[in-house]
Amino acid sequence: MQKKFHYNIALIGFMGAGKSTVSEHLGRMLDMEIIEMDQLISRREGMRISDIFEKHGEEYFRTLETKLLIELQTGKNVIISCGGGVAMREKNVQEIKKNGRIVLLRATPRTILARVGNSDDRPLLAGRKDVESISRMMETRREKYEAAADIIVDTDEKDVSQICEEIIQKLLEKDR
Ligand code: S3P
Repeated sequence: MQKKFHYNIALIGFMGAGKSTVSEHLGRMLDMEIIEMDQLISRREGMRISDIFEKHGEEYFRTLETKLLIELQTGKNVIISCGGGVAMREKNVQEIKKNGRIVLLRATPRTILARVGNSDDRPLLAGRKDVESISRMMETRREKYEAAADIIVDTDEKDVSQICEEIIQKLLEKDR
């Protein structure tokens, strides 16, 4: 297959926006490797994300995210499934943009709630799994997410292949 994109494609968005699922599918469609940031950080630290937060604190985790993004600035083009907090740090956005485009996946708080419902490895959602709390948290992030994005895709009521088609089409338009 001929490579369509000669840069990294980074997926950002709120927890439960579909970054992991979409990355996996997009990786298969484009024949690109996927880096799942949370998974890689968790594997390297030898513990779950919630345990990293508990043991070392959030700042420590945020530093690991930034270091990983710097490390990903290699010649190899991959799909980066970012943690939900990545786009909140300007330095992270700058790093990604050195060799990549940023795709923001959006979903309504109701959809997010349905998707994160029974996950217990999202420390920032502990005790906040309701539409109001999610809306409030999304609102505090919206501006930075949207400012970081090269393209935005709404995911509610779309299946994963529709979402991927839309991403590819919007990226190709941007590249034109
Ligand atoms: C976070 C999102 C999580 C994970 C950590 C913090 C956030 O990733 O990185 O719990 O600040 O939004 P997902 O978006 O993959 O759930």
